[in-house]
Amino acid sequence: MVSAWFPRAGAVAFGACLSLAGHACAAELSKPVTFAKDVAPILQAKCETCHRKGTSAPMSLVTYAETRPWAKSIRERVISRNMPPWHIDKTVGIQHFQNDRSLSDAQIDTIVRWVNAGAPLGDVKDLPPAQVWPDEEGWQLAKQYGEPDLVIKSEPYTMPAQGQDVWWKPLADLPITEARWVRAVEMRPATPAGRRIVHHALAQLEQDEPGAASVAGGNGPGLFMEWAIGKQFDQYRAGSGKLLLPGGKIRWDIHYHAVGEPIRDHVELGIYLYPKGEEPKYRTRLSYWEAMSASTNIDIPPNTIAETQGFHVLRQAARLENFQPHMHLRGKAMSMEAILPDGSTRMLSHVDHFNFNWMNNYIYTDDAAPVLPKGTMIRITAWWDNTAANPNNPDPNQWVGYGDRTVDEMAHAWVNVTYLTDQDYKDWVAKNKSN
Ligand code: HEC
Repeated sequence: MVSAWFPRAGAVAFGACLSLAGHACAAELSKPVTFAKDVAPILQAKCETCHRKGTSAPMSLVTYAETRPWAKSIRERVISRNMPPWHIDKTVGIQHFQNDRSLSDAQIDTIVRWVNAGAPLGDVKDLPPAQVWPDEEGWQLAKQYGEPDLVIKSEPYTMPAQGQDVWWKPLADLPITEARWVRAVEMRPATPAGRRIVHHALAQLEQDEPGAASVAGGNGPGLFMEWAIGKQFDQYRAGSGKLLLPGGKIRWDIHYHAVGEPIRDHVELGIYLYPKGEEPKYRTRLSYWEAMSASTNIDIPPNTIAETQGFHVLRQAARLENFQPHMHLRGKAMSMEAILPDGSTRMLSHVDHFNFNWMNNYIYTDDAAPVLPKGTMIRITAWWDNTAANPNNPDPNQWVGYGDRTVDEMAHAWVNVTYLTDQDYKDWVAKNKSN
């Protein structure tokens, strides 16, 4: 693997001291990199949130003693950009995300040089103070908004130690008596044990709303929230939200899989509302954009790389808030492009090393979220790797088609779409023309 990473690490180190004179640069590069001074702050900032005691990650990376045995594995994972889990191609498309947890090139370079130098501890006096982590049980959004206004629970289910995957679809009432606007939602399996058996969970909003389907681009009135490993909450941008109507219901669709011991769990949805009377101007809808003309078209021969595309027309001007590809074990890559009414094509986002364990949601920053005119065609392209080169592939000799099980395939993107009026779009163009 050496040749695969060295040129990049070298280039980065060089880039990092471009502003220094030649000898200063050489001195910078020859400085010993130590755990205490250089690496611990990176682990605190980018790894500990998952890698500490009591989380689902395989090991803690808090102390030197805990980290040292993993040094080589850490080098491999950060060079291949598999850890932290952030699998977007950094060379094309939009690059500004609200929730970017990736390492900078300079941070990767530091870790690589530390491991190459034998992973020394250095002077313990340089160690940063230990980080204090909030207890896992709380809602992540509570810091910002306090406790959720509504908490909706799915009916509990007991997954046996062994057995086929289960899709559990109970129904829950929305406890509201008047229309309310949602500004954020968070979803989670209720217990740490539950996190092991929930593959993903959907909360579909069922409410009486004639005509809504046509606006949503064929997606029906409302998929509310989708949870998968690595995705916990959605927050709507200032001035936008989702609308809940009295009498509405949440239709759960929870995908459980057996892990060798029986586990009972439920999934919870925390809903944060706009204050009564405060109505956001825009309504955001979660769209389900497939990478083919119909799901049943998936046809992946054994030992091949397969590709497929799907097209979706924006019937109104819109802002796209995020990109979240969904595929299963053979998933390799997915891109989202905009084919504009003038015929030009713009790459929005490309996840080039998709990993089934991580259904990352890439949320654009306010400034970076693309605003597209009415009539834009969104092209979703997906690639599957059904060869032995894919480490997640359970059997490259199988033909694979569409299905719910992880050994079957899917390919779609979840995208929160905020539809704009023609006037808003014109105003936006006028404002942004100059830059
Ligand atoms: C969002 C949570 C999360 C973050 C952030 C994260 N990890 Fe991980 N890491 C995991 C989980 C879960 C696994 C096991 C599943 C997998 O390999 O994908 C893992 C696996 C690993 C492994 C492989 C362990 C093995 O069994 O071989 C290494 C090495 C690693 N992480 C290093 C890091 C480093 C270094 C960082 C920070 C620069 C980091 N991770 C950030 C969650 C995370």
